[in-house]
Amino acid sequence: MDLKEYLENTAEQVDKLIYRYFGETCGELGSASSHLLLAGGKRLRPVMLILSADAIRKGSSIDVMPAALALELTHSFTLIHDDIMDGDVVRRGVPTVHTKWDMPTAILAGDVLFASAFEFIAMSDAPDNAKVRAISMLGRTCVQICEGQHMDMSFESRDDVLEGEYMKMVEKKTGVLYAASAGIGGILAGGNPSYVDALYHFGLGIGMAFQIQDDIIDLVASPEVSGKDRASDLREGKKTLIAMKAFEKGLDLSEYRRDLSPAEIDAVIRKLESLGVLEEVRVTARDLIKNGKKRISILPDTEEKRLLSDLADYFLARSY
Ligand code: IPE
Ligand code: IPE
Ligand code: MG
Ligand code: MG
Ligand code: MG
Repeated sequence: MDLKEYLENTAEQVDKLIYRYFGETCGELGSASSHLLLAGGKRLRPVMLILSADAIRKGSSIDVMPAALALELTHSFTLIHDDIMDGDVVRRGVPTVHTKWDMPTAILAGDVLFASAFEFIAMSDAPDNAKVRAISMLGRTCVQICEGQHMDMSFESRDDVLEGEYMKMVEKKTGVLYAASAGIGGILAGGNPSYVDALYHFGLGIGMAFQIQDDIIDLVASPEVSGKDRASDLREGKKTLIAMKAFEKGLDLSEYRRDLSPAEIDAVIRKLESLGVLEEVRVTARDLIKNGKKRISILPDTEEKRLLSDLADYFLARSY
């Protein structure tokens, strides 16, 4: 099976679970909690968990589907809160939760998904000691995401952010959730510590590259394609690798800290292209993918291992 087909089939399975548990929620808070889940999404963290489980023990993914859903719930919780922090109005092609409802409801809707994630891991069919390790990994991961998001926000008011600080920030806000997806898949499938460690670090590296590609998509993709606000990072003064490399080359993106027209954004892209900024950023992401893929070379050669490697390439090839 090729990756495209695999992604479609797996997303469909995850969607079915989402409809089963979140298709008929009650009350305003229930609707607000399920709003983004039902709006779609690529479901890449569940895919990572399912592939990792099957790479360790073929067929084990059936038992860990609740954990796959748990990773999507965790992700959706971070999206609801992230949209509040970033002041965004569109997500997955629909209004963000805090704009459709209000700030308190969005905070609580995120909290509902955050807490539910741990319940769903516990519902997986795996030995209790494996589930405890998985729950512990997810708890640690959520703390790190908060730390990463705090760094992201605090960098907005600084103009001396170093490349190393950016890398730490994306590791925490995005890398660790992909790392946990792969790691938890491995743990619940009964993987030995070195396999779990390999999967975790594979997810971490390619997850960081995923965020770098997200920063590029923020700039170049229309809301119709990305389902999100365009150039939100410019408007908010985010210290992306793009902004930092542009600054080094004498282009200060902080002058674009406002609502921009598509023509103004296109002009910024042309300047960045002519300075070679976007190419340099892509090279950094490519290195992360290359090194991430090396980490899973120790796994047995299976179709799932090949799909994991293809998934890594897709993280940079994607346009939304
Ligand atoms: C968006 O994640 C948030 C980031 C970590 C960059 P995705 O691009 O996976 O969003 P969905 O789940 O497909 O909507
Ligand atoms: C946020 O990064 C990652 C998390 C949700 C933790 P972004 O703020 O760039 O994500 P998008 O672009 O809004 O999806
Ligand atoms: Mg955001
Ligand atoms: Mg953000
Ligand atoms: Mg973004």
